Amino acid sequence: MDETARTKRLYIKTYGCQMNVYDSERMADVLRPLGYALADEPEGADLVVLNTCHIREKAAEKVYSELGRIRTLRDAKAEAGDGRMTVAVAGCVAQAEGAEIMHRAPVVDLVIGPQSYHQLPELIAKVSRSKGERLAADFAPEEKFDALPEARVVDGPAAFLTVQEGCDKFCTFCVVPYTRGAEYSRPAAAIVAEAERLADQGVREVTLLGQNVNAYDGEGEGGRWTLARLIRRLAEIPGLDRIRYTTSHPRDMAGPGGEDLIAAHAEVEALMPYLHLPVQAGSDKVLRAMNRAHTAESYLRLVEKVRAARPDIALSGDLIVGFPGETDKDFEATLALVREARYAACFSFKYSRRPGTPAAAMPGQVAEEVKAERLARLQALLDEQQHAFNAAVVGRTLPVLFERDGRYEGQIIGRSPYLQAVWAEGPAALKGQIVPVRIESSARNSLAGTLVEAPAGACEAA
Ligand code: 5AD
Ligand code: SF4
Repeated sequence: MDETARTKRLYIKTYGCQMNVYDSERMADVLRPLGYALADEPEGADLVVLNTCHIREKAAEKVYSELGRIRTLRDAKAEAGDGRMTVAVAGCVAQAEGAEIMHRAPVVDLVIGPQSYHQLPELIAKVSRSKGERLAADFAPEEKFDALPEARVVDGPAAFLTVQEGCDKFCTFCVVPYTRGAEYSRPAAAIVAEAERLADQGVREVTLLGQNVNAYDGEGEGGRWTLARLIRRLAEIPGLDRIRYTTSHPRDMAGPGGEDLIAAHAEVEALMPYLHLPVQAGSDKVLRAMNRAHTAESYLRLVEKVRAARPDIALSGDLIVGFPGETDKDFEATLALVREARYAACFSFKYSRRPGTPAAAMPGQVAEEVKAERLARLQALLDEQQHAFNAAVVGRTLPVLFERDGRYEGQIIGRSPYLQAVWAEGPAALKGQIVPVRIESSARNSLAGTLVEAPAGACEAA
């Protein structure tokens, strides 16, 4: 039988950040012309791709336990005479410990780093032809983006768009500079073209992705473009009503490009009032050891500046507890910073010792119980702040972009400008539309609202 004529089942499991979500979509795009259709479950799949995350130890270990499950499924498929299941490990674990994966998990046929997805068809074909040949490749990011197909299949009115990859910041706890490589910005024209194609498909909201997205410095008309310039250009695309970006580094927010971006928050209507600006810790001693190149005070001043431009902005961030050498007093400084910053939503993690990073070799590693205790205290405070932020919009009418069906019949779910999940009773036809919703009540993770019977544009500007 002609192999390409049969629909093949492709199962992709994505771990970690939104960049991986984008990459998984692009892997599906690259494989679609070969007859691969996405499946929701790995059972019986012809190709299984685990798109992995290496940021913390737990994330990396999950891959190995999933591979155990995949091996059982692969054997069951072979026993049932249903053909071969090819297993690929992609993403940052593949990049960082390809050889170890091969060694620990014989079920894996292919290991592929984040810069090589455009080569998937060729590599998959090679692997499925061979008996036990195991492959890997890695190339420069410019090749990756140029070689990926233009066509994208998007699911719903909100899409991710990678504009920048890699990191030159070398925070001492972090593996990203090693797994994703040096900072690279895609040329502005390629991004604009991709955004236009998305808008043509009904996408109303794009989230611009980059490990240091506000360090964006892509080639554009008239020279290098900043992220703000790119956003202003994207805001001109008809139908693209909402623009978001993530994730930012305070260091890039403090330079001239940052000034411009802060100004854009005041001036560009399509730029949503949400900022993910990780601080990691509140003690200057710890920030120095982390190589963050900012202080608690400079971070808070930056937040003040952003709020002066856009007073209602929803602030988000990342925090780490139990970095080597963190004392009770240092941790108290983190709590104090959080109280002052007032987060709408914030991620917090126990420090995870990553082999090969400078912090892994630092003295003063903090005991797990201490980390757990600190994390619980920090999360209680962040929960309180998130509740307060959500409660503050109750009674307001906000424009909601409805994205999908809710959990119960007749419900639809979307996002407020502040990225809060909002559900309401309403017709499915509203999916893909931005409509005014009166917020009736709030919980930590979502808001309940009612549709406002009013002409479009009747809601508060947000
Ligand atoms: N341990 C714990 N958290 C980490 N992060 C990155 N590396 C580590 C680590 N070794 C967190 C940071 C970063 C987020 C994506 O993950 O807070 O901003
Ligand atoms: Fe990691 Fe720091 Fe780069 Fe963020 S800025 S990806 S935390 S090294």
